[in-house]
Amino acid sequence: MPGIVIVGVQWGDEGKGKATDLLGERTDWVVKFNGGNNAGHTVVIGDEKYALHLLPSGILSDGVNAVIGNGVVVDLEVLFAELEALHARGVDTSRLKVSANAHIITQYHRTLDKVTERFLGKRQIGTTGRGIGPAYADKINRVGIRVQDLFDENILRQKVEGALDQKNHLLVKVFNRRAIAVDEIVDDLLSYAERLRPMVADTALLLDEALDRGEVVVFEGGQATMLDVDHGTYPFVTSSSATAGGASTGSGVGPNRLDRIVGIVKAYTTRVGSGPFPTELFDEQGEWLRSRGFEFGTTTGRPRRVGWYDAPITRYATRINGITDLVLTKLDILTGLDRIPVCVAYDVDGERFDEVPVNQSDFHHAKPILEYLPGWKQDITGARTFEDLPVEAQDYVLALEKMSGTRISVIGVGAARDAVIVRHDLVD
Ligand code: IMP
Repeated sequence: MPGIVIVGVQWGDEGKGKATDLLGERTDWVVKFNGGNNAGHTVVIGDEKYALHLLPSGILSDGVNAVIGNGVVVDLEVLFAELEALHARGVDTSRLKVSANAHIITQYHRTLDKVTERFLGKRQIGTTGRGIGPAYADKINRVGIRVQDLFDENILRQKVEGALDQKNHLLVKVFNRRAIAVDEIVDDLLSYAERLRPMVADTALLLDEALDRGEVVVFEGGQATMLDVDHGTYPFVTSSSATAGGASTGSGVGPNRLDRIVGIVKAYTTRVGSGPFPTELFDEQGEWLRSRGFEFGTTTGRPRRVGWYDAPITRYATRINGITDLVLTKLDILTGLDRIPVCVAYDVDGERFDEVPVNQSDFHHAKPILEYLPGWKQDITGARTFEDLPVEAQDYVLALEKMSGTRISVIGVGAARDAVIVRHDLVD
């Protein structure tokens, strides 16, 4: 069972680290296949805490090969800053490979991300401002700069000229900004070329060979299902394929080699940025969840929007991704409640929807239909088997499992790395 995909079920920040940690020593390769430095994960190893935005978490484990796949957009300044920070702490990063086909985020993408958001005013997406959307727009528009372009100055210059041609008109005439000089961009990009060269590879081929040898390859999805550009709450989404299909297109590994699809889902829901969120709480219960769950963004520090568990979303994500196993995280955060509300369906202007509505306006108007499950008061952070959990917590998990249509294989019960209950192994 060597090809394992990990995806977020909700709007991100579900705690994918729990699953990558569990796979731990059995992992040979970790592949990032979408997004860029808009992600953020904090990894704690021993007493050391590492905050990574761009690099796949596997970079921190000895013997694991880390891959930045073709579906990623790479900000070179961030890449080298993260690598240098890890070197300074003695981490060996020599096993990093970067796809020659990955696209590059440049200064003009970051600038455009910020000015476009400002221009949108009330309609803004609430992006991370890292240039993600504009870099993917260039890729689809066929004016993107790829990693391989850095090794031919002539080609690089032509491509940067092509990319800046229309953008400079836009920056100057619409956004009232200064034009960006081709030389400035070319010189900046070239300054990274020699350091980047040894990392650049045909990563699709490397991964195919690894799978042929029976090695375990983990495809780590950035963001999550509801932020996916096709299947999320468009236009309040990120600009990449954050669902399991993206693992294939974003790495060059055929879909028939993806054996296990693991969905990570929080025992409640959070969201960063704008867009619909039916179970969102605006009262003191929301404050309680936010502070108990430490729900503040790793990348932007923004307080996250919080709400109750939304079963139709998990059902939707299970279907869209083909999820084989769920990892339910942060169950311990719900400890102390008398009863726990769970959204089982939506009310849209008087009509009941059992599934996520396909129509954007319907989802914007969706009010949660809640059912209340009995809560528990005992501390569950020490539970290591399902039977260690209070019966109410067991019933909460079983109810969620039934509503989602797939099994909950792992339950996260605390912040510590080993604070998990494994009901089904994710590899075998
Ligand atoms: P972008 O990815 O910076 O373009 O932002 C688009 C939307 O995705 C915004 O609502 C962001 O807050 C959200 N987003 C991007 N990355 C993450 C993440 O890692 N976790 C949660 N939300 C994210």
